[in-house]
Amino acid sequence: MVMVQDVNAIGKDFFMSTWGDPALALHCRCVIEACLGMAKETDLNQDVFILAGWIHDVGRKDDVANHEQVSCDYLENFLNINSQFRPLEREIKDCILHHRSSGKPETLFGQIFKAADKVALRNSKWLAYKNSFST
Ligand SMILES: [Fe+2]
Repeated sequence: MVMVQDVNAIGKDFFMSTWGDPALALHCRCVIEACLGMAKETDLNQDVFILAGWIHDVGRKDDVANHEQVSCDYLENFLNINSQFRPLEREIKDCILHHRSSGKPETLFGQIFKAADKVALRNSKWLAYKNSFST
């Protein structure tokens, strides 16, 4: 029997143990939600979006300007520990490396992810969080 893995728990654990910033955790959740909304009723592998979602911005803790590349280093660490996801490396990497405005995704996964990174900023949970800081 094949065990169903809780991919979200695996990705979230990696994020929490690597950085765990609460605001970024909310952002990651909103990106994943936007991706899965776009990919609903498709055969696109959701694991790509979930793992890219949790890892794509982790590099910001070291180097904001080049964070998409640093995040790819974290992806490599993640795949060394969680080798069952190695077959998804190309797609996850496309999402992470090309998620910024200047990025040019090579796969449909990457195109969806790039849009989702921006759509996430309009997520009601994110807006409520941001508004909680305004007077
Ligand atoms: Fe992001």
